[in-house]
Amino acid sequence: MADTLTRDKDGVLSLGGVSLPDLAARYGTPLYLMDVATVTARLQAWTDAVEPPNEVYFAGKAFLCRALIPILQKAGVGLDVVSGGELLTALSAGMDPARITFHGNLKTTSEMRLALASGVGRVVADSDEELTRWDRLAADAGRTVEVWLRLTPGVDPHTHRYITTGHVKSKFGWPLEGGAAEAAVGRALELPHVRLTGYHAHIGSQILESKPYVEAAEHMLAFARAMHQRYRFWPRYLDLGGGLGIPVAGQTGPTPRELTEAFTALVRGGTPDGEQVPVWAVEPGRSVVAEAGLTLYRVGVVKRAGDGTVYVVVDGGMGDNIRPALYEARYRAEPVRSPAGEPGIVTIAGRYCESGDLLVEDVAVPALEPDDLLVVLDTGAYGYAMASQYNRVPVPAVVAVENGTSSVWVEGPRWDEVHARDKTVSWPS
Ligand code: LLP
Repeated sequence: MADTLTRDKDGVLSLGGVSLPDLAARYGTPLYLMDVATVTARLQAWTDAVEPPNEVYFAGKAFLCRALIPILQKAGVGLDVVSGGELLTALSAGMDPARITFHGNLKTTSEMRLALASGVGRVVADSDEELTRWDRLAADAGRTVEVWLRLTPGVDPHTHRYITTGHVKSKFGWPLEGGAAEAAVGRALELPHVRLTGYHAHIGSQILESKPYVEAAEHMLAFARAMHQRYRFWPRYLDLGGGLGIPVAGQTGPTPRELTEAFTALVRGGTPDGEQVPVWAVEPGRSVVAEAGLTLYRVGVVKRAGDGTVYVVVDGGMGDNIRPALYEARYRAEPVRSPAGEPGIVTIAGRYCESGDLLVEDVAVPALEPDDLLVVLDTGAYGYAMASQYNRVPVPAVVAVENGTSSVWVEGPRWDEVHARDKTVSWPS
């Protein structure tokens, strides 16, 4: 939960010292809210847990807009991007390209050229085809490119199958087993415009245990030692990815420090005599921004279905938060003004034309009525980032709060923006 979310003596919620009814009146609903103090505190938990020269890269796919960049820079963390759009967002806001890592299992040629032209620090290659293309494009640009190889360590992180990435069937990276990763190392070492400096693994997301990370690190180090024997190549970097979850509904999970405690010893212990201990890196996304974000909605309708289910229908839903429908993700909802009356069991439904557009199912909340405000907590990661214009409903604005003031991070919404790029086509009669 956001650190600054409080209820005043009249039972009204505020975030960052700003009352939520005031924010709704000023900016409208639905509205994404980001609590700057919580983002800063979560970043610091990571930077405290990761001692230099080891590195923290924030995974921009969890939440990114230009206003976040100065906060990342102030915290001294780098950025992981996966598209030209994320890269341009960061560069346009003044992010040091040397602190950017470029990921993704499909990078287009124009995105690769942009990365080379802008001086991105490292690229994480995902396939043989991509390695060849980096070599060719770097040659065209008259330079070399620093590359890490994305490896699939074959561990099960015990999370939803849609957000598992390090298992043997993964579409990402090279599997450690079977010779593909070994061949990729050999190839990367041969390519004249590619400078191989590291290995990368990301095993999944919303992970609440340390063990799969330790296992992945062990597999990576064993592979690195095998490649050291085979090619005399020892990595300068070992990136263990992101994925640390936030505990939901009674779950518990490690803190960044508890997670990373083992890494330094593991990496040192896995380094062959005479070689330099690799710098290890992590790429947290969700654990930095999830709890900092809330979505503020207005109740439009309250109705009872044939089976007695009470639906509280709000003015947003799967367009601004696809996670319940896509991953069966569970959220907590709170009325903005604590109403009198006994809690009843209701389902918070969205406005989109889809039965699965349910934000929170079977939750106990005091009676809510049309026009009441409601917040869904912990929506800061993969909410705005995965928003869509389904049903041609525009994406809500993002407003940040800090020390009693609010500022717009992302403008919106304008109803006409949903057709702004449409062409009028006249058909021959
Ligand atoms: N690094 C890499 C290479 C990644 O692919 C990801 C996430 C991260 C770091 C950050 O992971 P995090 O710390 O945020 O778990 N849309 C899904 C999550 C997909 C994660 C994709 N990769 C969701 O809403 O649960």
